[in-house]
Amino acid sequence: MHSDHINGDLAAVLLTDDQIQARLAEVAAQVDADYEGRDLLLVGVLKGAVIVMADFMRHLRSHVSTDWMAVSSYGSGTTSSGVVRILKDLDIDLVDCDVLIVEDILDTGLTLSWLMNNLRSRGPASVEVFTFLRKPEAVQVPITPRYVGFDIPNEFVVGYGLDYAERYRNLREVAVLRPEVYGH
Ligand code: PRP
Repeated sequence: MHSDHINGDLAAVLLTDDQIQARLAEVAAQVDADYEGRDLLLVGVLKGAVIVMADFMRHLRSHVSTDWMAVSSYGSGTTSSGVVRILKDLDIDLVDCDVLIVEDILDTGLTLSWLMNNLRSRGPASVEVFTFLRKPEAVQVPITPRYVGFDIPNEFVVGYGLDYAERYRNLREVAVLRPEVYGH
């Protein structure tokens, strides 16, 4: 789906399809160089990272493995609590693996902070993070992702994997939703 198809729902398009793909190609080139000669495992975090994972891994020129985790943050509504439970764990053992977590968004940082600690406790060679989006104003836990796609303002965004009530994940762009759509 393109933003043109749902213009009435959107306040603004923040990132176009072309901008996204160009940036993913840049990040992929960095990752290819940084991990040259090593076997990299990409760990995608369901569900939001599905789209960025699919595009990002196809920009890479090196072989990679992939695996997926699904986690859920305990908390009310849209507020993360930092207490995370695993809904789906990895299929493979991380011992001696070079792991790159692929996330759609770093918001408060609570999810990634928990996830990095969890994966680091499993004996990998390294754990780094690529987050497609980051909201610097929303960060509560200091996290230093090795790779960041775009820094964005602290607004409610959808598209390119990010949902509101499970909709808009299939929007090609990243957009700000009109407040009326989510009842504000
Ligand atoms: C989103 C996103 C991150 C997390 C970021 O997941 O994919 O995992 O929130 O927020 P934080 O930095 O404040 O912890 P969400 O729980 O919406 O699940 P989804 O990926 O299935 O949409």
